[in-house]
Amino acid sequence: MPGITGAESLARCIAIDGPTASGKSAVGRALAEALRLGFFDTGLMYRACTLAVMRAGTPTDDEPAVTALVRSLPLDMRWPEPTEPHVYLDEVDVTPLLRTPEIERAVSLVSRIEDVRAELVRRQRAIAEREPVVMAGRDIGTRVLVEARTKIFLDASSEVRARRRLGEELDSGRTSTFDEVLTATRRRDELDDTGHRALRPDQAASGSLVIDTDAIGIDEVVARCIEVYRRANPAT
Ligand code: DC
Repeated sequence: MPGITGAESLARCIAIDGPTASGKSAVGRALAEALRLGFFDTGLMYRACTLAVMRAGTPTDDEPAVTALVRSLPLDMRWPEPTEPHVYLDEVDVTPLLRTPEIERAVSLVSRIEDVRAELVRRQRAIAEREPVVMAGRDIGTRVLVEARTKIFLDASSEVRARRRLGEELDSGRTSTFDEVLTATRRRDELDDTGHRALRPDQAASGSLVIDTDAIGIDEVVARCIEVYRRANPAT
C-alpha cells in the first residue's frame, strides 16, 4: 500500500484463527467488506499446494519431495474483490478447483509437513507486507502475523460447526447426513491437531479476542471485531 511501510502493513492486518468451520471465512469476508481490506484465506494456499502435489504424483509421505515442490511453486494470491481471494499457480487461477473431496482428503497430509508450513508462512508474510489484509487460518496470530494489532480467535462446538458445514454441503447439492459431517469435522480436528496450530482457545495467540460463536450470530461477532480493530488502529 503506498504510504505505509511493510512493518506497518503487518501491524494493521487482522489475524483470525480457529478450527474448521468455526466461521473464519464468513467473519473474514464481512470484515474485508466493511474495512475494504483483502480477505486472505490461507487454507486456499495449502489447498493449491495440495493440487500441485497431486498433479505431480508426489506421494504425500515423501516430505522432502513435497517440500521441494512447494518451494518451487509460482504461487500468488490476488483480489478481484476484497471478499474474494483468488489463488494462482503459474499465473493460472486455480481457485475453482480447490474444494473437491480429493483435495479435502489430502490437504491435511500436506499441511502437516513443517517445512511446507515454514515456506507458506514466509509467502503469506510477504503478501501481507504489500498491503494490510484480513488473514484467516490456524497459525496466523501465533506465527504468521505475530505483530498484528488485531487478533481474533473464533471457537464453536463440533456439533455447531458440523451443522454449519452440513448446511453448506446441502446448499451445494451434496447429500450428506449430520452424523457423517460431524464425524468428518472431528476427524479434521484430529488431523489438524499437530501441536503447531491454534485450534482451541487455550492455544490462541496472547492478546486475542476469543469469541465463542455457538451462542452469538455473525453480525454481532463482526461488530465486536470492528470495534477492536478501530481501537487498535485509530488513525485508519
Ligand atoms: O481452512 P481450510 O479448511 O481451507 O484449510 C485446509 C487445510 O489447511 C486444513 O487441513 C488446515 C490447513 N491449514 C493450516 O494448517 N494452516 C493454515 N493457516 C490454514 C489452513
